[in-house]
Amino acid sequence: MRVLSGIQPTGGLHLGNLLGAILRWVRMQDGAECLYFLADLHSLSEYMEPEVRRASVREMAAALIASGIDPAKSILFAQSAVPAHAELCWLLNGTARMGWLNRMTQWKDKAGKNREGASVALFDYPVLQAADILLYQATHVPVGEDQKQHIELTRDIALKFNADFDADVFVPPEPFIGGGAAARVMSLRDGRAKMSKSDPSDMSRVNLTDSDDDIAQKIRKAKTDPEPLPEDPALLEERPEARNLVGILAAMSGESIEQVLARFAGQGFGQFKPVLADALVALLAPLRTRLEEFRRDPAELDRMLADGAERAQQLAAPTLAAAYRAVGLTS
Ligand code: TYM
Repeated sequence: MRVLSGIQPTGGLHLGNLLGAILRWVRMQDGAECLYFLADLHSLSEYMEPEVRRASVREMAAALIASGIDPAKSILFAQSAVPAHAELCWLLNGTARMGWLNRMTQWKDKAGKNREGASVALFDYPVLQAADILLYQATHVPVGEDQKQHIELTRDIALKFNADFDADVFVPPEPFIGGGAAARVMSLRDGRAKMSKSDPSDMSRVNLTDSDDDIAQKIRKAKTDPEPLPEDPALLEERPEARNLVGILAAMSGESIEQVLARFAGQGFGQFKPVLADALVALLAPLRTRLEEFRRDPAELDRMLADGAERAQQLAAPTLAAAYRAVGLTS
């Protein structure tokens, strides 16, 4: 079992990233060989000031370590420091089909009506993601629900490449959504939109860097409805905001939705929200304090990332060489 996952180093970590992915990455560190990386090449799909990009990679590395990713247990690195990612992406560009990429919902959502003006990198984004995964023969890719389609595409690319070149180069990976209630954490302002760093309203998400007061205020103001909480989870189906808040508490306390509802059935959000806010503060405050410590030592962060990149490069080399051979670029 080999685990791999990545995160774009744009904006800070929010609760969706944490519950949907990062805290699961942390739990997987003891049972498997894990590779986690900052997808800085992916961040080229949208314009960003170079200085901001440079700073964001370190900031996200600090946030991951503060959240419990241990560079002594896991291989933590920046994608651009391992050129094999970009190289394999180009080889896979010969295999991926325009029609497959055209069907990706992330492409459709992000390009919107402005397809002509979108970057080629935004369109090709899933092929680079496939390269990330296939380079390391990763078997498990822990991601939130929104990335499932990209992992399925990775399987298709792996199978077509192996078949076209009659070679057993790639292992088709499994998405590893798990995460239960947290696989899709929704916006605090709209229970039908996912919590996201690109939402213009900061009130829509809880950030790792939010103060205790910010967290309490965001939960107090989170959109809800006037009904009390039911006992039966099925009754939350038509109440997306209520379902989201219950799901967040369940994910944090390790309970099922049923167990949370058993505690709160018949009570309103006036009673539920303070409990949720306290649980969030208890989870996030210690991580925030650690983040502040790691930020103070950028040289140490750079050292850890360089060490991770060196280990990743070694693991990637045999697969990259096999891919070059398979397509006939080397013998
Ligand atoms: P990114 O940076 O958007 O998000 C990082 C991880 O957080 C999860 N996530 C969520 N989970 C639940 N609810 C939410 N509201 C929520 N928002 C984000 C994402 O599913 C993801 O697991 N394309 C990837 C980065 C990537 C990657 C890879 C991942 C590049 N190469 C290879 C896995 C394997 C992305 O943009 O994630």
